[in-house]
Amino acid sequence: MSDSTMNRRTFARLFAAGGSAALLGHPRLRDHRPAALRSFDVRPGAVDWQAVRDQFVMPPGVSVLNAANLCPSPAAVLDDVVDHTRRLDSEPFPSFRSEIGGAKERTRGLLADFLRVSPEEILITRNTSEANNWVSTGLDLGPGDEVVIFSDNHPSNNQAWKSKGERFGYTVREVPHVDPHPGAEYYLEAFEAALTPNTRVLTFMQHTNTSGDVFPAKELCAMAREHGVVTLVDGAQSFGLMDVDLSDWQPDFFSGSAHKWPCGPKETGVLFVNQRMHDRFWPSMYSAYTGRTGLSRTHEGMGQRDTPAIHAFGTQIEFLQSIGQSEIEARSRELATMLLEELSGIDGVHMWTPVQAERRGAVVTFRPGELEPRDVLAALEGDGIVAAARGGSDRPGIRFSPHFYTMEADVERAVGAIQQYLRTGL
Ligand SMILES: Cc1ncc(COP(=O)(O)O)c(C=O)c1O
Repeated sequence: MSDSTMNRRTFARLFAAGGSAALLGHPRLRDHRPAALRSFDVRPGAVDWQAVRDQFVMPPGVSVLNAANLCPSPAAVLDDVVDHTRRLDSEPFPSFRSEIGGAKERTRGLLADFLRVSPEEILITRNTSEANNWVSTGLDLGPGDEVVIFSDNHPSNNQAWKSKGERFGYTVREVPHVDPHPGAEYYLEAFEAALTPNTRVLTFMQHTNTSGDVFPAKELCAMAREHGVVTLVDGAQSFGLMDVDLSDWQPDFFSGSAHKWPCGPKETGVLFVNQRMHDRFWPSMYSAYTGRTGLSRTHEGMGQRDTPAIHAFGTQIEFLQSIGQSEIEARSRELATMLLEELSGIDGVHMWTPVQAERRGAVVTFRPGELEPRDVLAALEGDGIVAAARGGSDRPGIRFSPHFYTMEADVERAVGAIQQYLRTGL
């Protein structure tokens, strides 16, 4: 049997066996059409989280606890991407091209409001990786200069600084992660101690993807400013989760991705560039179709873009704002606390995430006894639970990252599964 024959037969058999559910692979997937985007009752404590959950396309049997990696979008945001893409392909008249081209400025304005800065300071990137790299490429650094990084930073941050340091001749100093999180004061002192008169840049994450540690972003930015040091805050794990007020922190740069905690479309992101850096920051890319506002006129020429996705990024920011970012943050933290407390009570579980509420966010990581993390991840998938695994010798284990679409029943299912694997084996 040729491959194509086999594929056709397999396709037909799968379809006969279970329609689209079988094709999609997981027995828990069923036809599920959520309601359109709607607004919510947002009195404190009054958000109907089940109604929020119902906006998403995951069927009830699938528990998604992987926000730190990739988030689903509400159905209306998926439709926003598809509808605009369809129109772009079916009626590609100049007037519609121009109309959808305006999506960038609409989204830029919404992002500026969301982060409490000006549209002139917002660049729409493809993701945090690109945003971080634009910073490490766009600053004039050379021999004699130093950059201070945090050891846990993502490769898009640390690997970029190290490789470019080798190329351009500046030095990179690393502040090590301490486990468990020793508190905000410790890190403030450790970062300040790492600065020298030659330090030009300090970069850290607000909320880590490894153990969910939270850093005192505002205080670190203020401390760096006092030393004349430029700050890049990697917000991949806080943008869309936490109530980020950049007007209050005044970092020089802040990066984030739409497809993580904001639950926006894939491959869109943001880079905030403080006004005071505009004459010290080089573009990394030169092409057509720049933005029309502020720094984007010189630094966002990226050629043809996925404008429907950029439009939907703005639509999703409106959705978050209709609920309220502080409500979303409180809800995600509450679910993370439930996870942490219940998992900590299971024999054999070792938590990597700090116990103290002020030192953590909504990422919960732990070692499930002697069980192999990858095997646990596969077992979780079999039980309809989406998580992440970390191998190796540095804090190996499982990561659960609940978000505002996660329900208490998802938390119970995840905790129950870990309990059972540890009791009866995989
Ligand atoms: C802290 C941090 N920075 C950057 C990234 C890269 O994000 P993206 O893949 O969206 O560029 C990640 C991804 O997990 C991350 O956790």
